[in-house]
Amino acid sequence: MPDRKGLSFRSDYFDDSAAWRALAGLLEDVFGIDVTVLDRLGGPDPTSVPFAWFDGAGRCIANITAFSLPLVVDGAFVRAAGLQSGAVRPEHRGRGLYRDVMESALQHCDAEGFEAVALLTDTPDLYRRYGFCALAQHRFTGSAPAGGRAGPLRRLDTGSEADMTLLGRLLDGRRPVSDRFAPLRQKEMFLFNAALTPDLRLDLMEEANAVIAWQVGEDGGFELLDIVGAHIPGLADILASLRIAPPRVSVRFAPDHLGWAGTAVPDTDDMVLMLRAAESLLPKRPFALPPTAGF
Ligand SMILES: CC(C)(COP(=O)(O)OP(=O)(O)OC[C@H]1O[C@@H](n2cnc3c(N)ncnc32)[C@H](O)[C@@H]1OP(=O)(O)O)[C@@H](O)C(=O)NCCC(=O)NCCS
Repeated sequence: MPDRKGLSFRSDYFDDSAAWRALAGLLEDVFGIDVTVLDRLGGPDPTSVPFAWFDGAGRCIANITAFSLPLVVDGAFVRAAGLQSGAVRPEHRGRGLYRDVMESALQHCDAEGFEAVALLTDTPDLYRRYGFCALAQHRFTGSAPAGGRAGPLRRLDTGSEADMTLLGRLLDGRRPVSDRFAPLRQKEMFLFNAALTPDLRLDLMEEANAVIAWQVGEDGGFELLDIVGAHIPGLADILASLRIAPPRVSVRFAPDHLGWAGTAVPDTDDMVLMLRAAESLLPKRPFALPPTAGF
């Protein structure tokens, strides 16, 4: 690591609460996102390993955080890491601090034997030099299937501790929502994203013991974001249980477990999913990372 006057390099510092708060300050200032919300949801992902520069006053100047993001891709387990919380304070940009923390994080991922590293960014050009390539993501749209079986359903309340404990348990034991591409687990970011998405509905199908994460789409249709459970119910049963008959359905992950096939439409989101992995590990068919797993 180069010597940077007045700055100290630190990694794996989340057990130091002042340093964690300093990172939260950096992310608040750069992105306007309050990650201390995680503190009341059980804390950041315990697999997180942050790499950062701090100044003499204890301010976090530059950071990137690696975490374990096991994936299923085309039916096979992929030992992947994710990178998140990448930022440099404006007054310190352009002097290689981001390169320092990125190189440290990637060395860590390689040393830990991760086969793939994933990130989401609106500046993909920044990451090509590190071996990342952009992957197209898709939505799956079509008309709603009919004839499903309606079962009992209960809306979960993100303000209820009991409901969040139940959701946490389901997140721990979930089946990947797609075999084409999905995280195996992603508890902390799911809870964080749910807390930050006021329009998100979390409905528990009580017999299937699966939580349906959905919202009303921009076109007034049904937008399915994720399903959390050991068993994935079919789309027809989901709609029957919700007692809705929407004009259109849009699914934000490959619907291979839903007993329904929509049309894959390329996503035009500003955030691009990038992967640093051998060609053979890249998904071969249209897919998307569920928005609830966004990081
Ligand atoms: C993007 C950001 C982290 C770069 O920080 P930085 O300290 O200025 O970066 P560095 O000085 O280490 O530059 C590393 C390299 O990236 C390049 N780079 C910087 N910003 C870039 C951008 N937006 N697009 C493409 N390349 C970029 C630099 O030219 C440099 O190239 P070089 O190694 O060939 O000289 C910083 O500008 C930032 O925090 N921006 C806001 C938040 C953000 O965009 N985070 C990352 C997105 S997920």
